[in-house]
Amino acid sequence: MDINWYPGHMTGARRKMEEDIKLCDVVVELLDARIPGSSKNPDIDTLAANKKRIIILNKVDMADPAVTEAWTEYYKAKGFTVLRMDSRVRKQTLKVTDAVRMACKDKIERDKRRGIVAVRPIKAMVAGIPNVGKSTFINSYVGKTTAKTGNKPGVTRGNQWIRISKDVNLLDTPGILWPKLGSEEIGLRLALIGSINDNILELHEITLKFLDFLVDNYCNILKDRYIIEKLDNREALLEEITLYKKCIKKGGEPDVDKACKLILDDFRSGKLGRISLEKPEDTDINHEEKD
Ligand code: G4P
Repeated sequence: MDINWYPGHMTGARRKMEEDIKLCDVVVELLDARIPGSSKNPDIDTLAANKKRIIILNKVDMADPAVTEAWTEYYKAKGFTVLRMDSRVRKQTLKVTDAVRMACKDKIERDKRRGIVAVRPIKAMVAGIPNVGKSTFINSYVGKTTAKTGNKPGVTRGNQWIRISKDVNLLDTPGILWPKLGSEEIGLRLALIGSINDNILELHEITLKFLDFLVDNYCNILKDRYIIEKLDNREALLEEITLYKKCIKKGGEPDVDKACKLILDDFRSGKLGRISLEKPEDTDINHEEKD
């Protein structure tokens, strides 16, 4: 399964981000709390090397709380300010304003000393991969329900400045990935959370690997959700779920593709429960050590 690809429009978006980042004081990067390592774009570390950094672990409501705690400590130890949220809840998103002010405390004090408080609001870039929840976060934060981009990766918007308060401006950027995903596991996890278009992926293979992961890590979820017994053979397991979910073609044949879609939808919509796909100690997601 080779999912190292890079949609053309992302090259332009990356170039634009490179220019815009120079104008910003702080970068607010949204990560998917279910894959806080694989959803972290290593390009942003390079482009934002001298900027203040805030990480939002988004969609915490769908992630395993104990694993989220471990990721929070992991990124804090690396010097990031870390916030955790369900972006659909406005009250949670509003915490970002204070975090931005705190991260830029030195700049604010320097400006105050120079007497230029109102002239230079803090500029914060909001970045993240497709489908991580950026538009949900921004719409919640500014108190709007419009400008929805939908659940399809690759849907982009133009970079847009949003005035949050008299001292903070946000720059919304399109969701981008990076040209080489680094490992098959990273590609697989990005596919599982819906950040890579399904139609270019092997759904069957992805589902089998996901089932392997569940057997090893969230066995009870599998048993409860699909009432299954055969956990030793993944093909048999998929077949059992296919029958349990009554995925049958017209001629009576089992419709395994439909079952794969159902299983992935159950995960993506949170119906399977709170599942984290990776832990900080997983070595296959350590971009820095790979480079
Ligand atoms: P993007 O701009 O980064 O591409 O992502 P977008 O905001 O469009 O969000 C992608 C999907 O993730 C949306 O679901 C959105 O509701 C959901 N989402 C965003 N943040 C959170 C969160 O913190 N928790 C949960 N549980 N979901 C979140 P959708 O299915 O496309 O839309 P909808 O049916 O929810 O309206």
